[in-house]
Amino acid sequence: MTLFSVDSQTCRRDGSCAAVCPMKIIHFAEDGSPPWLGPDAEELCIACGHCVAVCPHGALSHRKVPPDVCPPMGKDWPLSRNAVSALLRGRRSIRVFRERPVEPGLVEELIALAAHAPSAHNMQPVRWLVVSGQERIQPIAGLVVAWMRSLIAAASPLAETFHMARTVLQWESGKDPIARQAPCLVVAHAAKDARLAATACTIALTYLELAAPSHGLGACWAGYINTAANLSPPLLQALDLPEEHLSYGVMMLGYPKYTYHRIPKRKAPSIIWR
Ligand SMILES: Cc1cc2nc3c(=O)[nH]c(=O)nc-3n(C[C@H](O)[C@H](O)[C@H](O)COP(=O)(O)O)c2cc1C
Repeated sequence: MTLFSVDSQTCRRDGSCAAVCPMKIIHFAEDGSPPWLGPDAEELCIACGHCVAVCPHGALSHRKVPPDVCPPMGKDWPLSRNAVSALLRGRRSIRVFRERPVEPGLVEELIALAAHAPSAHNMQPVRWLVVSGQERIQPIAGLVVAWMRSLIAAASPLAETFHMARTVLQWESGKDPIARQAPCLVVAHAAKDARLAATACTIALTYLELAAPSHGLGACWAGYINTAANLSPPLLQALDLPEEHLSYGVMMLGYPKYTYHRIPKRKAPSIIWR
């Protein structure tokens, strides 16, 4: 089956598919013939689906992105400025969670939304690990603390920068400054050699964090866990990621105990205009 087919009855020859194709593999002549693919299309196509998604007439089909798996855009798109402002400015790192487990279906929904994050060359390298329950999460936090103790003992500058001695003391007093007693951890991981995977994982987790409140949930980056995951062999072993994979971001997830009522000020943007 060819990569791309055009229904010549419905195609209006408006050239939109060729115009939006990032790889410029769709050719279009203004002589009234339908668009066609160049000989290098199979090799170059990144299956981003732009050609299928932009066609207002549904004239295009793509083997890797068939139109029947591309639902129509919602009528409420684009969101209003107010809605986006509320979404972005209202996001908060949630560090105090209710003692309520997160339903796997909700985590799945969030991950499905995060899958719409952009990735270089549409490679979609992000894979996910979900760890639920204190009986699994607390040992992970404990391994992070063990790693911190080793950095403190070695007088590592990292220990000072991130106030690790204080964090360890908190842990020893029965608190959990590492995973914040979140009922769920979401790890975005990818193959070590996947290009720009760290960026893709960061963007995907950012999507997940932004989407969490619409599902009644709150999230917070677990920077300590992620840093330790790639520097502490016992923690990496405990996470048991697929071989040759690295953790590129960890997020705590759970039902927030508190509601926020104000939006803290940020630094004024520093912009160079040219
Ligand atoms: C990469 C990254 C790592 C972070 N790691 C932690 C962490 O380990 N523990 C924590 O409580 N907060 C962590 N945070 C949350 C930041 O402290 C938080 O984003 C910042 O204070 C601003 O607050 P806000 O997110 O509520 O706007 C992290 C944030 C980022 C972006």
